[in-house]
Order: sequence, then structure tokens, then C-alpha cells
Amino acid sequence: MKDLTHDLPRPWTRPRRGRVSAAWRDLVAETHVGAEHLVMPHFVLPAESGCEPIDALPDIARLGRADLLRQVEADLELGLRTVLLFGLAPEGSKDAHGSPAWDPAGATPAAVRALKQAFGDDLVVMTDVCLCGFTEHGHCGVLHEGRVLNDASLAPLASTALAHAEAGADVVAPSDMMDGRVAAIRARLDAAGFEHTGILSYAVKYASAYYGPFRAAAKSAPGQGDRKAYQMDVRNGLEAEREAELDEAEGADALMVKPALAFLDVIRRVRESSPLPLFAYNVSGEYSMVRAAAERGWVDEAAVVRENLVAMRRAGADAVITYHARAALAGGWL
Ligand code: PBG
Ligand code: ZN
Repeated sequence: MKDLTHDLPRPWTRPRRGRVSAAWRDLVAETHVGAEHLVMPHFVLPAESGCEPIDALPDIARLGRADLLRQVEADLELGLRTVLLFGLAPEGSKDAHGSPAWDPAGATPAAVRALKQAFGDDLVVMTDVCLCGFTEHGHCGVLHEGRVLNDASLAPLASTALAHAEAGADVVAPSDMMDGRVAAIRARLDAAGFEHTGILSYAVKYASAYYGPFRAAAKSAPGQGDRKAYQMDVRNGLEAEREAELDEAEGADALMVKPALAFLDVIRRVRESSPLPLFAYNVSGEYSMVRAAAERGWVDEAAVVRENLVAMRRAGADAVITYHARAALAGGWL
């Protein structure tokens, strides 16, 4: 066979020289994922103790406060220093307005107090602010004649954020997708003397089919309809820049793109259009798919999780919220 390289000028530029050994690859790698980049989500029961496994989220459970404290203490040993809390409503307490969401004795405020008392500033405590887990109808805002009202939802959301801030949350994270909620929350926090409490906005949150396991875990599925009239259309990318810009102007301290894997292009866009810290949410359905395939022996869980987390960081995320955080660190997968 004719040597086709014969006439090429030498020496060639050879990218393979940069891949020659593990040590060399580590030296020149462009992207790193470490414990400092990861946020562990937790589902919190309105109870002192308890541990309820969640079928579609293997190794994730709804925890009572004492169980949560033990788990967070163990996770801190692994270097996991940030948690995102999702509180559950007490049995039978949901109402039309979602009032258990802003109960100062609710699951989230109680867990925040316990965590901050135990760990202080060694732990960053973030809380999800939404109404869907607390309303009878399961929508993220106030429902009126089949529609989720935007402006009427702002006060209850701000009250919820304030209850979390009063309990000692470092950062509140509104996930409802109402327009103007960052400004409403910022104003309410500042008026109450919580100008130091941060806001991580779920700025770019799509109406995604990947939230299924989460809704079972948080008992927050809408009874009727879907969330497409408030969460973003998955077909849009330019709109992400607009959402990011608005939340930045309203006073958000950090932005989020959610989900992550099917939206890596959006992470990149927001990274390039806003200077704010950027979080990617590696959501429940993304976790469950990897776990299900790994259970069947179809993929190597450690390698796939590493590849996925690297991809989110390479796309431009500063931090990643992921149910894989503990296993990835405990197993040395990164
Ligand atoms: C509540 C909320 C959801 C998620 C985070 N906050 C669900 C939804 O919007 O229906 C999804 C997280 C996940 O799937 O892991 N608004
Ligand atoms: Zn919601």
C-alpha cells in the first residue's frame, strides 16, 4: 500500500503526544471536578427522625432532621460543603395557597436551624423556594381558574424565602419561574434585615420530562396539567440569555441552568452572556437513568458519572448540584 504520509512535511504536529500517559494528561487537563464544585440535594421530612427510601432515586431518601445531620456530617468528611434542601409538607397540611411553605416551623426552616447550629459556616445551606410541594394542586404558584397567576405568587414566594432566611439559610433558591420573583424576594429579605442572604436563581429552568423522580420524592407533581405555561420551552436557547439577564438585573447572586445534560449548550450560552456564578442542576431523571443502566451492567457508573460531571464543568458551570455527589467522592470517581 502506498504510504500517503510520505510527502507530508515533517515534523508533524501530533496531538497524541499530549495524551501519552496519565500523569501528562492530568498535567494538561483543561477541566477539573472536585468536592468544592459539588452540591448535595436533600429531601427533608417535617420530623425529628425518619428515613424513607425513594424508589426512582436509589440511595437517596427523605430524611428527618437527626438523620439529615448524621448524613451531612459524614458528607462533610468527604469534602461536601454545600447542601440544597427540599422540605416536605406535613401529611394533610397542603392547602390552596401553599401556606405550609412559609411556616417557620416547617421542614426546611427546622432543618436549616439544626444544620447551622451544628456546622455553622463550615456548611453552606441553600434552600429551594417554591410552592409546588405545599399546594393541593401541585403547581409552583397561585392557581386561579386553571392558570398560575404570576404577580399573586410573588408575595407567598417571598414569605417562603424570608422564613428560610430567618432560620439561617445562607442562600435561597427560587425554582418557581414566576417573572419578577428575584426582585420580590430581594426586596423582602432586605426590608427584614437579611441583606446578607444570597439568592441563587433557577433562572433558566426548562419544562423538562427529567423531573419525574424528583416529583415523586418531593410529592410535588401537579394534579392537573403541566408546567409549560411557566417553565421554559425546551426548544429555546436565546431565551435563556434573556432570563439570565433579567434575574441578574433583579439582584440574583448566582444563576442556574436546569436540567444539565440535555442543555449543555445553554450552560455555555449563559456562561458567556453573564458574569454571575453559574450552577448546573444534574436533575433526578438524569441520575435515575445512569443508575438504572449501571444496575443492568450496561454502563460503568463511575466512568459515566465522571464524564457527565466533567461535561457540565467544561460547558461552563462553576458548580454542579448532583445526587451523584456522595458516591462520586466516596468512590474516588473524580
Ligand atoms: C420545584 C423543583 C423541581 C425540581 C427542583 N425544584 C421540580 C419541578 O419543577 O417540577 C427538579 C429537581 C430534579 O428533578 O432533581 N419547583
Ligand atoms: Zn415548584
